[in-house]
Amino acid sequence: MSQETQIDREALMDRAFEAAELSYSPYSHFRVGAALLCQDGTVVTAANIENRSFGMTICAERSAIVKAHSLGRTRYTALAVACPDAGYPVSPCGACRQVISEFAGPDFPVYFTGADRSQTVCTTIGSLFPYDALKELAQP
Ligand code: THU
Repeated sequence: MSQETQIDREALMDRAFEAAELSYSPYSHFRVGAALLCQDGTVVTAANIENRSFGMTICAERSAIVKAHSLGRTRYTALAVACPDAGYPVSPCGACRQVISEFAGPDFPVYFTGADRSQTVCTTIGSLFPYDALKELAQP
């Protein structure tokens, strides 16, 4: 069985939608939730946290990775991202793609959707962030 079929994508996306409810987004009114499936089977969730100094806003995806790693969960299986305020699937921003790629190989599954989850995009971090030269610098 492939890794893809072992992941309960719908359950992970449920958790991402739940996480979006905890978004702090009084400036954009654009809630985002992320659910990160860790290799130990646990799921770490997070939301976007904005700031009146807009550049200090932290996306849901990066929040989830920082939270999980800080809890000692350092290896990941998949990431789901839900944007209930969007009429289209919202993909991780460039900064988040780079942060995800720091902790995941190119085949790492990334799922993202807007309000209509029938339009969920299922892809990989390798597709979203190709030619990842940073891997050449990483010291295990
Ligand atoms: N945002 C995320 O949290 N993740 C994404 O993938 C797209 C954008 C947040 C940042 C900001 O709080 C709001 O969505 C609007 O850009």
